[in-house]
Amino acid sequence: MLVEAGGLPEQGNGRSGAKDPGARRRRRRQQQRGRGRAEAPPAMSAPTAVQRLFEACSEVFSGPDSTSGAVPPPAGVERIKSVLDSITEADVSLTSTMSYFRRATSRGIPKITYLHLYECKDFSIGIFCLPPRGVIPLHNHPGMTVFSKLLFGALHVKSYDWAEASKDSADVQSQGLCLAKVKADGILNAPCETSVLYPEDGGNLHCFTAQTACAVLDVLGPPYDDDSGRHCQHYNISSSAPSAGDSKSLPGDDGYAWLEECEPPRDFRLVGSTYMGPRILDN
Ligand SMILES: [Fe+2]
Repeated sequence: MLVEAGGLPEQGNGRSGAKDPGARRRRRRQQQRGRGRAEAPPAMSAPTAVQRLFEACSEVFSGPDSTSGAVPPPAGVERIKSVLDSITEADVSLTSTMSYFRRATSRGIPKITYLHLYECKDFSIGIFCLPPRGVIPLHNHPGMTVFSKLLFGALHVKSYDWAEASKDSADVQSQGLCLAKVKADGILNAPCETSVLYPEDGGNLHCFTAQTACAVLDVLGPPYDDDSGRHCQHYNISSSAPSAGDSKSLPGDDGYAWLEECEPPRDFRLVGSTYMGPRILDN
C-alpha cells in the first residue's frame, strides 16, 4: 500500500503543542532518535508491550527455526497473537481524541494515517489511524500472514479468499475477473481478539470501513515487496459475472463476488506520520 509522506506527529496528551517551542524541540529530538532504526539498549527494565511484540515477531519470522517468507507454524502464530491481544492504545500512546482520528472536513472520504513502528525484510509493524467513515479499500496480501489488532473503535470488515474454482478457469481469467468467496462481513468492536489472515485463507483480501474513530495495529510477515512479487493490488467488485464457457459451472450466489484489479480509488489517501509511542529497540 502506497503511503504518502507527511502528517505532523502528535504527543499522547491529545494536544499538538505547536505553540510550545520547548515541546517542538523535544519532539524533534525524539524524531531524530527514533526513525525506524536500531537504538542502543537502555539499562535493564521490564520490556514495553511493543518491545515484546517485536521480540515475538523476530523469533517467529526471523529466528533460526523460521523459513523466510513462509507461514509460521501454529505455535508461532499463537505467540504473536497472544502478545497483540494484550496490547492497548495506551501501550502505543494513542487516544481517540488525537487529530489523526478527526475528519478534516465533513465531505468526502477522510484520509488515513499510517504510523510506522518497524520494518525489516521478514516483518513490519505499523498502526492505521482511521477517522469515522475512513475507508481502506479492498486489497490483497499476497504470500503474507497478517495480524490485525483493533485497539479501539468499531470497524466494518469485509474479507474474501480466492475461490479454488476461479483459479482453474482460463475462460474467466481471460476476462480479467477472479472469483472470491466471502470470509467475513461484519463489525468488529474493540476490545476484541486479534484477526489473522494467511496467503490462502482467513480473508486474504479485505476492506475496512470505520464506523467510529479506529486504530488498527498491523503485523505483516513478510511485508509488501514488489521485487519479491508481493505487490499490494486493489480490487473492484464487478457488477457482472463472466459471460461464457466454463464460467457457467462456477458458483455465483451471495457468498461469492467477482473481483477485477483496479487502481487505488482517487479519494483514498494514506499518509505517513511519525510514531511517538515507546520505541522498539533492535538489539
Ligand atoms: Fe490489509
